[in-house]
Amino acid sequence: MGGCSETNFPTDLTYLSLLGYFCPVEKREALRVRAKELLASWPQESRLVIPALQTMQAHFGYVPPEAVEEVARHLRVSLSRVYGVATFYAQFALRPRGTHVIRVCLGTACHVRGAPQVLDELLRWAKADDREPAQGRLEVEPVRCLGACALAPVVVTADGTYHGGMTPAKARALVQKILRGQNA
Ligand code: FES
Repeated sequence: MGGCSETNFPTDLTYLSLLGYFCPVEKREALRVRAKELLASWPQESRLVIPALQTMQAHFGYVPPEAVEEVARHLRVSLSRVYGVATFYAQFALRPRGTHVIRVCLGTACHVRGAPQVLDELLRWAKADDREPAQGRLEVEPVRCLGACALAPVVVTADGTYHGGMTPAKARALVQKILRGQNA
């Protein structure tokens, strides 16, 4: 099931409520109904927040606000707790993702070795990515430590491959390879 918002709003809580504005009421209702169906047979236990969010992520490709609300309602936990979990773990996306997601580490080790310049280069490419939506889109996601500090600066491509020792030039070559449809 596709998402509603193709905007690039930050995913912090301040902006989450704005996402609904771009999503037609009928679509939001459909998301809510589907989320409810997915949880229907689940026990109402608060320890299931993470698996429930994983189910939503797997089904929708991201975790829409309606799914967060249904998880909170069904498992009888607060909305803030579910949002807290959803925003803590990098595996959860709170808005629809691009087809080619590149994660750029901005942790300390990566930062001091040039990650900001790598990020700038990747963002420049993402902004210029005006291909047909059907071909997929490039999305750049800054993240905290990826646990591979010895390889700093590091980026991770959608297939889970870690690319260490990144420079703006290497980032450019990596993106060109991805956009040509080759495995990075
Ligand atoms: S700081 Fe980048 S991998 Fe740890």
